[in-house]
Amino acid sequence: LAQGAPFKIGLILPMTGQQASTGRQVEAAARLYMAQHGDTVAGRKVELIVKDDTTLPDVTKRLAQELIVNDKVDVLAGFGITPAALSTAPLATQSKTPMVVMAAATSAITAASPYVVRSSFTLPQVSVAMGDWAPKNGIKSVVTLVSDYGPGNDAEKYFTERFAANGGKVIEKLRVPLRSPDFAPFLQKVRDEKPDALFVFVPSGAGAAVMKQFSERGMDKAGIKLIGTGDVTDDDQLNDMGDAALGVVTSHHYSASHPSAENKKFVAAFEKANKGMRPNFMAVGGYDGMRIIYKALEDTKGKGGGDALLAAMKGQMFESPRGPVLIDAQTRDITQDVYLRKVEKKDGQLYNMEFDVIKEVKDPGKTK
Ligand code: DHB
Repeated sequence: LAQGAPFKIGLILPMTGQQASTGRQVEAAARLYMAQHGDTVAGRKVELIVKDDTTLPDVTKRLAQELIVNDKVDVLAGFGITPAALSTAPLATQSKTPMVVMAAATSAITAASPYVVRSSFTLPQVSVAMGDWAPKNGIKSVVTLVSDYGPGNDAEKYFTERFAANGGKVIEKLRVPLRSPDFAPFLQKVRDEKPDALFVFVPSGAGAAVMKQFSERGMDKAGIKLIGTGDVTDDDQLNDMGDAALGVVTSHHYSASHPSAENKKFVAAFEKANKGMRPNFMAVGGYDGMRIIYKALEDTKGKGGGDALLAAMKGQMFESPRGPVLIDAQTRDITQDVYLRKVEKKDGQLYNMEFDVIKEVKDPGKTK
């Protein structure tokens, strides 16, 4: 291809359907990155082609095929849920197209194709921190409640293994369907079992429903704490959850309240460009994913090429709004700091306030 041809990024996201909030966050962040860094890299014009997979993995795969064959995209990106990433991975391999996973977070996704690079996180990476924190903080018995698919299974496995290794007792492991979940019967069961805490993983966008039912059923008054990965206190919804969310402790890689200069700049610019919408961890995955693509294109002096771009993505290290990150050259997964956070009110708004950090956490799913 001539140097003058545009460099095309095919961004496939759930813009409608159950995970639409993920699509909205990632697209806004990708556009912010481009607005801040320009649409020309090393003399090459960058074109973003956004496609809505409606949260259906078969549609993701069809759109990826069309983007590769018809649009001849240089990079595929996005992927709101694990099944979307897994359905597309074989196409990335066949066509040697780098595939930047900006949202989905099951550990195994990076093993599905050597062309996958991840800018989001993994559930094992954030779950083990809670398995260490909880038993040191008076939580000796737990029931787990997870969405019944890849990331939920990862969260359940890595939390319970670590929690049990630290002497904690897992009373029961509950799984709720991903599609149209009804948490009520599960929460009733947990209330009867009376564990010290309920550990929850639900995908971005489902946390508010959990929080509402948890408080309506008087779980907190029954002495049961809510803990989990930060997906449940998602910054996209947190401020509307009300005081029921106060005091909830989670482990995660990003909070909109992360007190770095880099993050303050990011949050202010994101809110300004999006009518006050607060960026969540999905937005940061999209923003950093664009950074990874831009830097790789720059390193190839604007030439691109699947294998050259992939090589330039491996080993990238930079200061993200979330903190320092590294794209591990061996696994193509992200190494990052994981924080313990507690929901508190700051200036009249609810935030996940970080109070402890575990530095440079690799995906534990890769070392098993
Ligand atoms: C996935 C989706 C989410 O919304 C989330 O918070 C974590 C993981 C996933 O499908 O991989």
